[in-house]
Amino acid sequence: MIKFTKDSIIGVIGSGAMGSGIAQVASQNGHVVFLYDNKAEALTKSAANLKSTLSKLVEKQKISQGDSDSILKNVHFVSDLNDLKVCDLVIEAIVENLEIKQKVFAELDQITKPDCVLATNTSSLSVTSIASSVKDAGRVIGIHFFNPAPLMPLVEIIPGIATNTEITEQCVSIISGWKKVTVVCKDTPGFIVNRVARPYYGEAMRIYEEGIADIPTIDWAMKEIGGFKMGPFELTDLIGHDVNYVVTETVWKQFYFDPKFKPSLCQKRLVEAKYFGRKSGKGFYNYVEGVTVPEPKKDMKLGNQIFVRIISMLINEAYDALYMNVASAKDIDLAMTKGVNYPKGLIEWGNEIGLKNVLNELDRLRNEYNEDRYRANVLLKRSV
Ligand SMILES: NC(=O)c1ccc[n+]([C@@H]2O[C@H](COP(=O)([O-])OP(=O)(O)OC[C@H]3O[C@@H](n4cnc5c(N)ncnc54)[C@H](O)[C@@H]3O)[C@@H](O)[C@H]2O)c1
Repeated sequence: MIKFTKDSIIGVIGSGAMGSGIAQVASQNGHVVFLYDNKAEALTKSAANLKSTLSKLVEKQKISQGDSDSILKNVHFVSDLNDLKVCDLVIEAIVENLEIKQKVFAELDQITKPDCVLATNTSSLSVTSIASSVKDAGRVIGIHFFNPAPLMPLVEIIPGIATNTEITEQCVSIISGWKKVTVVCKDTPGFIVNRVARPYYGEAMRIYEEGIADIPTIDWAMKEIGGFKMGPFELTDLIGHDVNYVVTETVWKQFYFDPKFKPSLCQKRLVEAKYFGRKSGKGFYNYVEGVTVPEPKKDMKLGNQIFVRIISMLINEAYDALYMNVASAKDIDLAMTKGVNYPKGLIEWGNEIGLKNVLNELDRLRNEYNEDRYRANVLLKRSV
């Protein structure tokens, strides 16, 4: 049985945004890291980025020059997967494609030591399905970092149905040792964060599509009344609609087309137009220089209606995750505050607002629209 220590060697596959960040975190915590990518340019870019990130940290006196040198020395950028044979833990962060991931895991099965733990950083695929390509699926687990990995405190640990309990415990222990907040969750679509956060985007887009309020007003309401750092439209513009839309669609499909998760046509059109958000200069907002941002209608009555509708849907989803044993109430609240910077955990927020008020809002929506989307979770109902 593997026991991770400071001397454990970490492998990371995929040197893109996530893999590079994970390699940096592991190296900063004293591990020797082998970072592999099948594209030479990706490795070169990752090495250059790490160097520049570390020199900025030295400039800001966050780390010493000595620390920077040893972090850099600890990361080996490799172009041969066989170099990962010495690893004790391998974290895969390649393209989000089940077949490609399964192929890489099957190769890792041959290359790595039999007790090496194989982890995937997938956001939306089933850990169990990735694990099925490895003979001993007991050594495969999900370790889901958030972007950017060196800065975001949350890591979701997701055992698949075959994962050995000791491996889950070992992973929680090593990742917590990297000063991350870990939450353990069941292998279900979207895990905690990418499931529970869906109504923040979906219900906001629905309100906009119905013409109840415009985009700046909905963003204003969620920031001003809800205390969120970014409104749903600003946030999806930042995440990128290509990425955000695919996560929504994947979660919806994996939940057998549950209408709660139904994607929004207004976002689909943005993706079709390649209006991906900030990165392409246009999304729900226009980022071209000189264009003025439209003003919200700062109408408190309307703002409160928007906030109550979206927050009720979010709290309902948090209760659904709790009821379906995805994670504990404590971990669901931790996940939303540490993974997506919510001002409060949703279970706590529900108690503050009053679950009776949340249920009233859900019942009002259910009666008005006669849609299953607005059904209140049974645990929430029982708790009232
Ligand atoms: N970007 C995010 O916000 C985020 C957050 C959490 C989890 N994730 C997940 O992390 C994973 C990586 O995402 P990313 O944003 O870093 O992607 P990315 O596109 O930035 O990087 C992926 C890297 O993997 C490499 N790659 C692709 N196929 C490969 C293969 N067969 N073998 C080796 N290398 C290969 C590519 O060359 C690329 O460098 C995905 O599963 C994604 O769902 C992403």
